[in-house]
Amino acid sequence: MTVCEYKPGLEGIPATQSSISFVDGKQGILEYRGINITELAYQSTFLETSYLLIWGALPTQEELADFEHEICYHRRLKYRIRDMMKCFPESGHPMDALQACAAALGLFYSRRALDDPAYIRAAAVRLLAKIPTMVAAFQLMRKGNDPVQPRDDLDYSANFLYMLSEREPDPLAAKIFDICLTLHAEHTINASTFSAMVTASTLTDPYAVVASAVGTLAGPLHGGANEEVIEMLEEIGSVGNVESYLDKCLAHKSKVMGFGHRVYKVKDPRATILQELAQQLFDKFGGDHYYDIALALEAGVAKRLGEKGIYPNVDFYSGLVYRKLGIPTDLFTPVFAIARVSGWLAHWKEQLGENRIFRPTQIYTGSHQTPYQPIEER
Ligand code: CMC
Repeated sequence: MTVCEYKPGLEGIPATQSSISFVDGKQGILEYRGINITELAYQSTFLETSYLLIWGALPTQEELADFEHEICYHRRLKYRIRDMMKCFPESGHPMDALQACAAALGLFYSRRALDDPAYIRAAAVRLLAKIPTMVAAFQLMRKGNDPVQPRDDLDYSANFLYMLSEREPDPLAAKIFDICLTLHAEHTINASTFSAMVTASTLTDPYAVVASAVGTLAGPLHGGANEEVIEMLEEIGSVGNVESYLDKCLAHKSKVMGFGHRVYKVKDPRATILQELAQQLFDKFGGDHYYDIALALEAGVAKRLGEKGIYPNVDFYSGLVYRKLGIPTDLFTPVFAIARVSGWLAHWKEQLGENRIFRPTQIYTGSHQTPYQPIEER
């Protein structure tokens, strides 16, 4: 076997072969199953895109109708899961609650038949259907309220916004939220997807796969960045403070949240679409002064770090969209998870097709033949 050079963060090392999505980081192109993300964002829906990602082709009208119907049917949570959630501390982060809930599904649907297409479909449907209900339920419960039941007359995205706020959303808001889900659905082998694949490679159940991916997504260098972007904009406070904030950041070598990407060296195409969506929301529902700060920050970072290929990533404008949709800041990452479930499931299913357990090697840097020292001599 050839000995490879050690690359921290596995940068540039292929970990799998996949036909699910493609990123060209130099030209700013993202495709799901070969279809450009901009076309999917504006012409597809999140559920249709999820079907495409998981089953590899766009559904026919009948296939899509069946899929939507199944998802709608499975949105409800078992009362034992709701009771379990009632015991969660209200101060707990919703990503931790979501990780626990995703893992708990494995207790209720424990049959593991990874070679049975019906099992795979049922598990995918359950996860896609129940994760939004869990996120919304935790939001209401931590405020001391009972969760509301899903409404069968509302589509996937409108129903989520309804379960969160107990109000039927404006159709533009629901449409824009659905586009956000499509944009976040999949992104090749990012950290959480890799985590999902490593877990999947042991042939454990899909609920454990998604739970491990949720835990990985939660970190501030990954999905958690969208929350930190809003905190950063809050801290900056006004357009006039942008330059001094950037001076401070660069002097301390700290990261400007929502900028930079391992793969993109230009502006992330999803950030461009999210910015357009933010503007549509501001036109209809009124502006947000954080947007002016964000624009000044984007210009300032381009001037100082553009040469290094540091531009807005998907998390930079998504928070502004979610804020305008009335989604609390600490639900931004759970919303990211709602979307990314479809990408994780697509990779899980692909992984099962040609599985080999992940077991990389390491370069040992410790000592050898070290004598054991009894505790009283230490
Ligand atoms: N602000 C300032 N400098 C940056 C930034 C940033 N946001 N991102 C990268 N750099 C600089 C970094 O200091 C380093 O400079 P030098 O070569 O002089 O030491 C160079 O660019 C390479 O950075 P890196 O951290 O080695 O790059 P990476 O590929 O390991 O990390 C990243 C990628 C996304 C973790 C990183 O850009 C980052 O921490 N960004 C801020 C957090 C963020 O927005 N995360 C969301 C990522 S996109 C969505 C997702 O994956 O969930």
